[in-house]
Amino acid sequence: MTLRAVKGMNDILPDEIGRWHALETVLRRTFELAGYREIRTPVLEPTELFVRSIGEATEIVEKQMFILKREEESLALRPEGTAGVARAYVASALHNREPVSRLYYLGPMFRAERPQRGRYRQFWQAGVEIYGDPGPGCDAELIDMLVRMLTGLGLQNLRVLVNSLGGADTRARYRDALAAYLRPKAAELSEHARRRLEDNPLRILDSKNPQDQAAVAGAPSILELLTPEDRAHFDGVTRGLTALGTPFEVSPGLVRGLDYYTRTLFEIQTSGAEIGSQNALLGGGRYDAMVKELGGPDVPAIGFALGLERVLLALPAVAPAREARCFVAPLGERAQVEALLVVRELREAGIPAEADTRGGSLKSLLRRADGTGSRLCVVLGDDEIERGAVTLKDLVARAQVEVPRAELVLRAREALASAPPAGSSDA
Ligand code: HAM
Repeated sequence: MTLRAVKGMNDILPDEIGRWHALETVLRRTFELAGYREIRTPVLEPTELFVRSIGEATEIVEKQMFILKREEESLALRPEGTAGVARAYVASALHNREPVSRLYYLGPMFRAERPQRGRYRQFWQAGVEIYGDPGPGCDAELIDMLVRMLTGLGLQNLRVLVNSLGGADTRARYRDALAAYLRPKAAELSEHARRRLEDNPLRILDSKNPQDQAAVAGAPSILELLTPEDRAHFDGVTRGLTALGTPFEVSPGLVRGLDYYTRTLFEIQTSGAEIGSQNALLGGGRYDAMVKELGGPDVPAIGFALGLERVLLALPAVAPAREARCFVAPLGERAQVEALLVVRELREAGIPAEADTRGGSLKSLLRRADGTGSRLCVVLGDDEIERGAVTLKDLVARAQVEVPRAELVLRAREALASAPPAGSSDA
């Protein structure tokens, strides 16, 4: 019996990896240009960490964690990155070393969700977390960086939703107001929402169930309950975005599925058809209380995370370009040995190269060269070796030239650096 991968967990094969690398390069560059430094935290954390930070009465903690029990310990595969980064921030007392920490991460996350297009059980997130900056300018700057990054990647039809949940006081008052509004409608709610009505009514605003959506349609807006300080903060964020020319919509129904948020909350969605119903490319917000709750000082925080699979689904697929690498095709016995010397020489000069060691006709070797996606083929025949020459064949331009063996590295480098001819099909 062939063994399959775990449901909702995907292999990323070499053919696809070029798109991943390209996206990861843009993400790292964007973050590093803005002063973030990378942090890597464990994939396994104490289950308690997620219960305390994400919240007990959330879908993630109630239903979606992969939990491992080992002796007395309960460990969970991280469903997201924020809690682990905050734990590391507290544990390493980073606040003692720098007033503001700007951290970024990239790695797999795990949630036992029902898999569908754009929703997996192992998925990749890239995110940032900022500690120590309470100002609304920080929020506006982060959202603007993300919009520009997504637009720069070629994504269109973006919707930038922002909201404020206020501080703990506002949330407590809103919770009561929402529960009071929904209690008389309890019979119209789904069974799940009826349970949430008492333990976490804000989560009903997240429900995808049409019955629940109809019931919350006329619910009071949290923005009406903001304290003057919360209001001033939110106004600061929207003013900042307006000044930067970043398009956004205020969306009072946006609550997101994690309980740790305070004040600013945002999500960027795409309406492109490729992505299906899982249209949130990224989401984030402030979580000013978490560091203290995890035993650290009273340090405000904000961050976001983006789903790499979703961004790749939304991006137009482009034919992979030929890589700047050489395939060395030997014809004949002497050439077989010479080919090994040639690849060694090319690699030592920094040119990626591989040699055929299986043998065959020129036609079959050129087919293999094509199959590797190489831009250049070095053809070595016994009679060419006799003359001290090799043939360089540009697999995109379909042109070839004989060059002296001694100039091989130089000429190969020149050929790989030259632009492929216009209109050439390199797919
Ligand atoms: P989140 O909204 O749960 O937030 O996840 C962020 C992004 O991860 C989503 O917008 C989506 O692109 C992607 N994502 C989430 N679940 C899945 C899944 N099952 N399959 C594929 N992609 C998925 C967070 O995780 C917060 N930690 C963000 C944050 C950072 N807030 C503050 N700091």
